[in-house]
Amino acid sequence: MKTWFGRFITSSIGQKLVMSLTGLFLITFLIVHLAGNVQLMWSDGGQAFNEYAYFMTHNPLIKFTSYGLYFFILLHAFQGIALWMKNKKARGSEGYAVKVNRTAGASKASYRMGALGIIILVFILLHMYQFWLQMKLGNTEMVAYGGEPVKDLYTLVAAVYENPVFVGIYVVSMLVIAFHLWHGFESAFQTLGLNHRKYTPLIKTVGRIYSVAVPLGFAVIPVYMYLFA
Ligand code: HEM
Repeated sequence: MKTWFGRFITSSIGQKLVMSLTGLFLITFLIVHLAGNVQLMWSDGGQAFNEYAYFMTHNPLIKFTSYGLYFFILLHAFQGIALWMKNKKARGSEGYAVKVNRTAGASKASYRMGALGIIILVFILLHMYQFWLQMKLGNTEMVAYGGEPVKDLYTLVAAVYENPVFVGIYVVSMLVIAFHLWHGFESAFQTLGLNHRKYTPLIKTVGRIYSVAVPLGFAVIPVYMYLFA
């Protein structure tokens, strides 16, 4: 027999709440990740970025948060796929009727979010393989800047972005992420029940600025490195 929590978390509202909270965590992660990656464009041969990456992978609190991050990415993806399939099934059984009733807009948006989400998941798998796994298991060169030697992650990243195909994949993936965030940012707050005369329009505006500026910031990096690194 399911507990109240088990029933809640598998209900549609429970599933949406999980999507909203994990989504907000991932939104915060992206800002931190972008702030770190911008250092790839400093003209210092990668020193600032490599030292930053060393700190991020050795600080115990950040390491612990990373495990939470992996878990939340998987939870967000699998819960999203489960919700997507549930909506798809509901659309299938309602047939044409759903196209004319007023939930059709919401259902279309959630269908699009699922499709974009799956593309993002494929991107994350490629991304983790190219950088994260190579950093953890590959034999990345070490460099020393006066102190303890650190992994030369900068050269690893620069080598990937020498290939215009990967630059293209990154830029297109950032466009997909922008569309996903455009709806997702606002929707996360809506699920939390935030509905306020003054704050709702503010969240909408912040969401739109975020969903354009952050993916654009990420997209500039591979292009810059391809041209100048
Ligand atoms: C130009 C774009 C990007 C570059 C150059 C980049 C670079 C990197 C590098 C070098 C790592 C391994 C080192 C580290 O853990 O910090 C990494 C890890 C990671 N990246 Fe990215 N990244 C980019 C965009 C993104 C985007 C858009 C996402 C999510 C949608 C993402 C998700 C992740 C995740 C989840 C990790 C693992 C983090 C951890 O272990 O704590 N990255 N990225």
